[in-house]
Amino acid sequence: MDKLKIRGGRPLHGDIAISGAKNAALPEMCAALLTAEPVHLVNVPRLHDVRTMRRLLDHMGVTTQTHGERGGMSFVAPDTLSPEASYELVKTMRASVLVLGPLLARFGRARVSLPGGCAIGARPVDQHIKGLQAMGAEVRVEHGYVHATVPRLKGARLFTDMVTVTGTENLMMAAALADGETVIENAAREPEVVDLANCLVAMGAQISGAGSDVIRIRGVERLHGATHRIMPDRIETGTYLCAAAVTGGAVRLTGTSSCYLDAVIDKLMDAGCEVVSERDAIRLSAPARLNAVSLRTSPYPAFPTDMQAQFMAINCVANGVAMIRETIFENRFMHAVELQRLGADIRIDGNTAVVQGVAKLEGATVMATDLRASASLVVAGLVAEGETVIERIYHLDRGYERLEAKLAALGAKVRRLA
Ligand code: UD1
Repeated sequence: MDKLKIRGGRPLHGDIAISGAKNAALPEMCAALLTAEPVHLVNVPRLHDVRTMRRLLDHMGVTTQTHGERGGMSFVAPDTLSPEASYELVKTMRASVLVLGPLLARFGRARVSLPGGCAIGARPVDQHIKGLQAMGAEVRVEHGYVHATVPRLKGARLFTDMVTVTGTENLMMAAALADGETVIENAAREPEVVDLANCLVAMGAQISGAGSDVIRIRGVERLHGATHRIMPDRIETGTYLCAAAVTGGAVRLTGTSSCYLDAVIDKLMDAGCEVVSERDAIRLSAPARLNAVSLRTSPYPAFPTDMQAQFMAINCVANGVAMIRETIFENRFMHAVELQRLGADIRIDGNTAVVQGVAKLEGATVMATDLRASASLVVAGLVAEGETVIERIYHLDRGYERLEAKLAALGAKVRRLA
């Protein structure tokens, strides 16, 4: 199994390009299920999760093709496809549940495996199901599968108990082909929801309010093909900003924008970094040692849970004490024990971690447990003295395109070991 070896202690310098957003690509690939016409996506990141979603769509009978160097991918979902997603494919990626809304809306039936457990928490899909039922679907959960049928979904007023990103996306896609108007209240405001809405609008959907907590969708009879460019990955952007910050480096990230990252950039500035926004780029330069920064994760536009682990890593070597509170997922501190193996001083109490900055971390062998946990180990490894070996880096391949090449372009010493 692949491992990543990092020799720490070199400040990162230089320019790299940020890839398209994984969390926009996955729902937008599923949006192609809403029409028989071709949907072309541009700036699709080459990631393990994207390949998994492609396999899932292929398996149903969608024709998928990649084009050229710029991450072009096209999808044609014929009327004859089989609206089923099996456990074998769904179990490895929770976002697979995003096929449910589009399949039901277009084919009137869907059989989709429940995503099952996940390292970072229970993560049920009850809100997705509740919304589809409110739109008239009959839904049964049997033998680990969601079976849903409906002659045609009907517009409805939907309210989710908590803010859910993929829940909002699933219901927005379903509502695009429903009969009448759907209002999603307490909707997720994440930029990826807006990007999906833009993609759906390009396909002929009538959607307003995406980016606010009330989204209105007027259902149409049919959607058509479209070309859509996927937004930049704000979590990849934030991860490289942390990597540069912790090493006392100076980097310029291109093909991205600070407008998606206010909460993250605010914290980096509190930590002592200088951050400059350009039109399609962000520049960061960092002091030799950062100040500790406390934070609390919350739905967008507050601080993202997907950046919590990376900030824990930078706090490990900062000046002072940081309190990190995780409010989205109940089991998202698994990186803490691995960071402790590198010499970090972290105490966990329920959903709060107290990180006392230490003068230095020391390289060791550590284990990646999930995607963002593994990103925090990379950030820590870049500043640790000596060699850090990260095991199970397939987690990183789920969300970071060409990670070693990008880090090497910034001057890091990294190598993949088979
Ligand atoms: C998405 C992102 C993920 C990010 C997360 C939170 C994608 C593909 N993934 O995940 O990277 O970490 O948002 O920003 O976009 N919940 C329920 N019932 C439901 C749905 C959610 O209880 O039906 C709970 C979850 O367990 C969690 C919280 O709501 O505690 C938020 O989860 P949600 O926003 O749905 O996360 P995902 O959409 O799976």
